[in-house]
Order: sequence, then C-alpha cells, then structure tokens
Amino acid sequence: MTHSKILIANWKMKPGLKDSIDLAKKIKEKIKKKPGVGVAVCPNHIALHGVSKVLGKSAIKLGAQDVFWEEQGSYTGEISAAMIKEAGCGYVIVGHSERRKYLNENYEMIHQKTKAVLNLGGLIPVVCIGEEAKDRDSGKKDYVLMDQLHQAFGGINLMENQEVIVAYEPVWAIGTGTPIKPEEAEYAHKIVKITLLDIFGSDLPKKNYKIIYGGSISGSNVKDFVKLDNIDGFLVGGAGLKPVDFAKIFKAMG
Ligand code: PGA
Repeated sequence: MTHSKILIANWKMKPGLKDSIDLAKKIKEKIKKKPGVGVAVCPNHIALHGVSKVLGKSAIKLGAQDVFWEEQGSYTGEISAAMIKEAGCGYVIVGHSERRKYLNENYEMIHQKTKAVLNLGGLIPVVCIGEEAKDRDSGKKDYVLMDQLHQAFGGINLMENQEVIVAYEPVWAIGTGTPIKPEEAEYAHKIVKITLLDIFGSDLPKKNYKIIYGGSISGSNVKDFVKLDNIDGFLVGGAGLKPVDFAKIFKAMG
C-alpha cells in the first residue's frame, strides 16, 4: 500500500512580504493538485497572511517556520499555535536546526511546542531532528536521533486524528548543495521509524506519521531518494525558492 507524501518548502528569513507573494504566485502556477502528494510552503510570519490569500484553495498549503508553546499572554515577539492556524496554516516547523543553533532552542522547548500544536488540533507539527557532523564522525548518530525523538515526543499520546511529521535533517548536509547518500538517509529513516513506534506504540497507524528528509534536495538529485522506502517526502530550503526546481521535485514524487 502506498501512503501519501509531502513536499514542504522552508523559505527561512529570505524573501520578504512582496517577494513571498511573488514566489507563491509562481509556485501556484506550476503546481497543481495531485493525488497522494501534498505540498506546503513556509514563509516568514509577517508574510503568512498575504501568502495565504494568494494560495487560496489551491493545492499548496501554508506552513509557519516556528511557534510558541503558550496559548496567550506576555510573551513578546512570540506567536501561538492558534494564531498560526488563524493565519491559514496547516503545518508548522518545530525545532529547525538553525533555531537550535542561533536561538539555543532545545528539545525541552521542542517538546512543549509540539505538544501545544497537537493540543490545538488542525495543525501538523513538522519536528526537525538530525545529527551534527561530530555525532556522525564519532559513531553516535543513531543514539542522537533516538534521543532527540524521545525528548521531542516522549509522554505525548497521539490521538486517532493527529499527525506528526518528522523531518530528518542531517545538520552537516543543510545548505551545502550535497545531500547525504540515499542509503544513509534510508537507514536513518528506519531508525526514526523504529523509535517513533517505540514511543507511540507499535500499532501506530501509518496515517499518523510521516518521516521526510531535508538537506540539499534539488530537482536533479531527488530521483535518487523518491524510490526509497520510509522516505515520505522532503523539507527543502534552497530549492523551495526556485519555482522550476521546486516543481521538478514535486513532479518526481509520483
Ligand atoms: P536546504 O535546506 O534544502 O537548502 O539544504 C533544508 C532546510 O534547512 O530545511
């Protein structure tokens, strides 16, 4: 049985409001609904509303790049899950490695954010994990991934109608132009899958989770990844800013 896949673009702090709207228009022109493959773009917070208006009821869904764990209150600069949903989002990235690096975001925070998103309902967290080069070099990669997953999801009970997306992003492959070897990604995804089943229960239905890969995926290398088991899609940075390349990835996904 084949399961649905998803392609998500993280536009990072790159296009501003006007450029995000232009980019959304171009991507909307190129990508039409296709059964079994979902697609979402994640602009910066201030562009969410404008991009939402452009996307309308098209095949392309909206996602945010971050969320705060409290529902409301004196948390200057933060945005709640409900606010993100109100802006039209169906997805939100949680714990991207750039936030872990520049904002000291840790897995305790990532756990709180994931829980807040799931508690709200109607919003799917895209939880980022991934080892650094030093973890890989010292042979600790598997342990690091398992630990990150346990910290992010431990103690959370996934309900029947809830879904989580785990983005496996080896930090050392992000933005380099060279992804990891497909078989290495396939192996890591197996580790992620086993750990998720360990956390949520071995009877967790496939519809409740996806494991996607991120790190230098492009229109030209995606073909090596689409045929692998356990890879349910991609989180792309650079390629998400190039409508032709982005559409090529989408096309390759089935
Ligand atoms: P990249 O970024 O595709 O440019 O490597 C991926 C990411 O940061 O999610």
